[in-house]
Amino acid sequence: MNYQANPSRYQQMTYRRCGNSGLQLPAISLGLWQNFGHVDLRSTFEQVLHTAFDLGITHFDLANNYGPPPGSAESNFGDIMQGDFGKYRDEMIISTKAGYTMWDGPYGDWGSKKYLVASLHQSLKRMRLDYVDIFYHHRPDPNTPLEETMTALDLIVRQGKALYAGISNYPPDEAQKAFDILKQLGTPCLIHQPKYSMLVRTPEEGLLDVLGKNKVGCIAFSPLAQGMLTDKYLNGIPDQSRASRNPSLKPDQITPAKLNAIRQLNELATKRGQKLAEMAVAWLLRDDRVTSVLIGASKVAHVQDACNALNNTSFTSEELSTIDLILKDLG
Ligand SMILES: NC(=O)c1ccc[n+]([C@@H]2O[C@H](COP(=O)([O-])OP(=O)(O)OC[C@H]3O[C@@H](n4cnc5c(N)ncnc54)[C@H](OP(=O)(O)O)[C@@H]3O)[C@@H](O)[C@H]2O)c1
Repeated sequence: MNYQANPSRYQQMTYRRCGNSGLQLPAISLGLWQNFGHVDLRSTFEQVLHTAFDLGITHFDLANNYGPPPGSAESNFGDIMQGDFGKYRDEMIISTKAGYTMWDGPYGDWGSKKYLVASLHQSLKRMRLDYVDIFYHHRPDPNTPLEETMTALDLIVRQGKALYAGISNYPPDEAQKAFDILKQLGTPCLIHQPKYSMLVRTPEEGLLDVLGKNKVGCIAFSPLAQGMLTDKYLNGIPDQSRASRNPSLKPDQITPAKLNAIRQLNELATKRGQKLAEMAVAWLLRDDRVTSVLIGASKVAHVQDACNALNNTSFTSEELSTIDLILKDLG
């Protein structure tokens, strides 16, 4: 409970403007999807959060369902906000989301106004906050009119329960429609949160163009492909790794073809004087439409590696072509 933030934290991080807004986000943000639940060790995740803030990471990303169990990452973060982090609230950008299954019955999932408003109410209680900085609709809902979901985001912002609105996992055409509705309502969309890494390049198929055109920020989630874009799996699946204990990364997703590509990427990273994790983060930041890279971390060293990426974020055209070539056969 005696944490004092590193006084030089703002010299260590780069901040990038989020689209056309007044908000700047750190080039590296920390997500609490995994490793911050009741099943995890508090002393470890406290250290991870402290290290992140000490390195200038001002943005912490949550969702109603993060844990396990669902809700527990928000509760644990709330404990820390009530303690060590409380005095730094105004130096932080805290986000949460609703859109995936959270509670039983027809009102605890997808994109109705009922669900979004009730869920944010719960999230604020768990995190013991008056407001979040960004509230996201977590995934598109094919059965709720987009107008209703966007009106819910607008309402939440007007009520002061969130400062900005965001969307996540929306494909380009749905994202464009959402931006148009939000603009009309007077609450422009701040940010989109897509999955984006060297192993998942879908945002390059139209989404980044839509974001650039609309001047909406982009925060790339799972930038290390849940750990595959590190040296972790080069020699098998270690105990305690995500692939060994969490169904979100199944061992059979680490295919021989991927491992072959990862090995080649690892060699290139070494030539650049970086770890593969550092190069994977730097590669995302090569595009200035990407505002921030949203990492996960099970230990302090993971946060440090991601921040070390900022020491070298430029790539020669030859390096970029080599990366494209390595990834080409993965489809
Ligand atoms: N909007 C959405 O739908 C959505 C979905 C997923 C995630 N997200 C957001 O994105 C955040 C990050 O997602 P993610 O956790 O999948 O990100 P990630 O950065 O791709 O993966 C993080 C995991 O990779 C491993 N790792 C990290 N750095 C490492 C290093 N330097 N060396 C070796 N291994 C390393 C650790 O796994 P081990 O446990 O194996 O150590 C760590 O937990 C989430 O917390 C959440 O905020 C959003």
